[in-house]
Amino acid sequence: MNEEIRKLLKQMTLEEKARLCVGAESNWATCAIPRLGIPAVTMYDGPVGVRREMAESEGDGFNQHNSYPATCFPSLSTVSMSWNVEAVGEMGRLLGEQAQALGVNILLGPGINHKRTPLGGRNFEYFSEDPYLTGQLGVHYVNGLQSTGTACSLKHFFANNTEYNRHSIDIKIGERACREIYLAAFETVIKQARPKTVMSAYNRFDGSFCSENKRLLTDILKIEWGYEGVVISDWGAVHDRVKALEAGCDLEMPYQTEESAASLVRAVQEGRLDEKILDRSVATLLELICELKESEREYKLDLETGHEKARELAAESAVLLKNDGALPLRTDFCVIGELAETPRIQGAGSSRVNPYRVSSPLTELRNIYGNVAYAKGYGANEGELAEVLADEAASLAKSVPAVLFFAGLDDKTESENCDRKDLMLPPEQIRLLEKIVAANANVILVLQAGSVIEIPCLDKLNAVLFAGLGGESGAEALADIVSGKISPSGRLSETFVAKLSDNPTYATYAKDPERMSYSEGIFTGYRYYDSEEVEVAFPFGYGLGYTDFVYENPVVSGGGDEEFVLSVEITNAGNMDAKEVVQLYVGKKDSKVQRPKKELKAFCKIALAAKEKKVVRLTLNQQSLRYYDETARQFVLEKGCYELYLNKNVSENIAVLPLTIN
Ligand code: GLC
Repeated sequence: MNEEIRKLLKQMTLEEKARLCVGAESNWATCAIPRLGIPAVTMYDGPVGVRREMAESEGDGFNQHNSYPATCFPSLSTVSMSWNVEAVGEMGRLLGEQAQALGVNILLGPGINHKRTPLGGRNFEYFSEDPYLTGQLGVHYVNGLQSTGTACSLKHFFANNTEYNRHSIDIKIGERACREIYLAAFETVIKQARPKTVMSAYNRFDGSFCSENKRLLTDILKIEWGYEGVVISDWGAVHDRVKALEAGCDLEMPYQTEESAASLVRAVQEGRLDEKILDRSVATLLELICELKESEREYKLDLETGHEKARELAAESAVLLKNDGALPLRTDFCVIGELAETPRIQGAGSSRVNPYRVSSPLTELRNIYGNVAYAKGYGANEGELAEVLADEAASLAKSVPAVLFFAGLDDKTESENCDRKDLMLPPEQIRLLEKIVAANANVILVLQAGSVIEIPCLDKLNAVLFAGLGGESGAEALADIVSGKISPSGRLSETFVAKLSDNPTYATYAKDPERMSYSEGIFTGYRYYDSEEVEVAFPFGYGLGYTDFVYENPVVSGGGDEEFVLSVEITNAGNMDAKEVVQLYVGKKDSKVQRPKKELKAFCKIALAAKEKKVVRLTLNQQSLRYYDETARQFVLEKGCYELYLNKNVSENIAVLPLTIN
């Protein structure tokens, strides 16, 4: 604690100290203490764009329309499919600049919770089903954001993996799964990017609310991991302010009543709360406030640059799941589906952004191909008109060589505060798609969603492009891919399971309104499907492009207790520039403990011009091979032989190389 903070602390009354540990009545700031010249710092959502709310007088209630325009980037689930950590870092930096320009000191993101079930209502807001991929993306996002003087809020700590009864559900997880899966990305980001704030989650963990859970917020976060930043509660996640403060929750958000601060004053006066604990949180808050005020910078709000960068990122994130030669589109075609005209660019809930400017896929395609015929095809509440729309679309489909069919989820199906009921598209879209594939043999499906879809008529489709939630310039990105200007290079960061009941959480999910036990342990996502050889629709890490890549001469060097490196020569055998995601998984068949068959431990994305060859080096260290020993209560390294899987995706192996640890 520096001298200035020490002095301030001494000058503060007990009431002022308690008041600082609860948000300001404005809902989006800390509480200023003018008597001592302590300013407020502001905080707003969210992970994919700055939702800087206008004053009540200017707005019309809690929705995106009363916030200032800002760049709406693709969702985190979408950008994670770019596997491009530098690009995600750049997104973080641009978000930080826009936050500064809009007077925001803390941006409430990124959300890095694990995707345990494809039904998760906020899966669109989280990166991946793999903690290593999530951790690497999170480190770059946070470093980029905080390089501008804006603080992040790493959320939601932790095990907020479902929206089902999210404010009360008690999550039970075995210690090894906690350490290797659910805490892992938080530990990586906290140790490698030093986020200035962490947001405690709504749910309970092991019987107590995360915001009041001392083992979580103090023993693990602050003592074991050495975290020195501020813990902010999720909005309304504190139930007992004294208990939360003792557990390590420094700032309750938002302000609810005077009772919160008053309860802290009474607890100290009655000897139930040691004032040193209050002083510890106050000092941490004062350090954050001083640091953020000092790091405020004058950035110009450059929304055109943001729009273009979001376009590049959306184009790098779309995943080509199937292509029997229909893409890039070189023949006449029509466009069918309302989402081509009014695209779904972001998820619903607190992450909502008021986008700077949004085009539509139909407009962007017409800019390239001329006047392309279009039929809306479906609408959510069309009633008897639905049949007319569908027949109109079907007859249009009969008249052209190819159909670009747009489908996806809506804000009711995919939103914060509610999980999905299934993995299906809306029924009216499925009914129409069945008619269209019967009317035309060359149908390309474009999906706009933030999470897994069970794809209907898959065998009758000529191509499938999963565009994710592409942000405000997703339409331009889509046209870049469909027209062949850019070769798609996205790879799935969440398994497309063939049917929901194949998911390992199916038996335990939402069976009990009070609690949820993660009985599948570490066998989550591809760790389960791959180990149990469950056939999936499209595996983790999967994605096609418009060119092929040749891998040659994979070699492992190094070993012992320093790093070891897998190097491989990769050539772009195609006729256009393209990008490849090189993936390295590690397994240990003869392990003395249960392990997934393979786990992602290194990756990199490389750009290769047509016919260009590069040597790619992927680095591992012994830390990458450890597993969590519940008896020793620490990560341990098992000696012996490991398998290094150089893969196109988790299921498609290029080479397996042995690695021995003596
Ligand atoms: C919400 C979300 C959190 C968000 C906060 C402020 O309930 O859980 O992600 O940052 O409240 O809107």
